[in-house]
Amino acid sequence: MRRYLADPRNLFLLATVEETAAGFLRGTALQQLRTGRPQFFLYEIGVASQFRRRGIGRALLLELLRYCRAHGYDEVFVLTDPSNRAAVRLYRSTGAVTETPADRMFVYRLKRRGAASG
Ligand SMILES: CC(C)(COP(=O)(O)OP(=O)(O)OC[C@H]1O[C@@H](n2cnc3c(N)ncnc32)[C@H](O)[C@@H]1OP(=O)(O)O)[C@@H](O)C(=O)NCCC(=O)NCCS
Repeated sequence: MRRYLADPRNLFLLATVEETAAGFLRGTALQQLRTGRPQFFLYEIGVASQFRRRGIGRALLLELLRYCRAHGYDEVFVLTDPSNRAAVRLYRSTGAVTETPADRMFVYRLKRRGAASG
């Protein structure tokens, strides 16, 4: 854990409710090979069952998106099982899109695509 947190490419957000850990999110900065434009991979998000449906997952995600916009990321993406209804609705309701309805990859496009993107 110390090694993970010491790596500046990694981000770990912890949500607390009255000093009790209630949820977390973690992910890693990635670089595209050809363009060098930074992307962020949301590796995992979880909220303890007794704290669910209180807006904690949404708050964690919105904080991640705020952080990524502030740091110039082009995209945030996350993989999930399309049958994970809670995750799918959470991602879609915070702005993530998929290429197809059954896609496992949910993408938050933080910047408009320019003509010279690639
Ligand atoms: C997915 C998860 C992180 C959501 O956390 P949460 O704090 O309960 O989510 P929120 O309260 O912020 O909900 C935000 C929105 O997501 C959707 N949502 C969340 N849980 C849902 C559920 N059980 N069923 C349907 N929609 C759900 C809703 O649209 C909700 O908005 P609403 O409450 O206004 O309807 C949580 O259910 C969880 O930890 N699941 C197990 C781990 C997991 O599957 N992680 C994702 C894949 S790695």
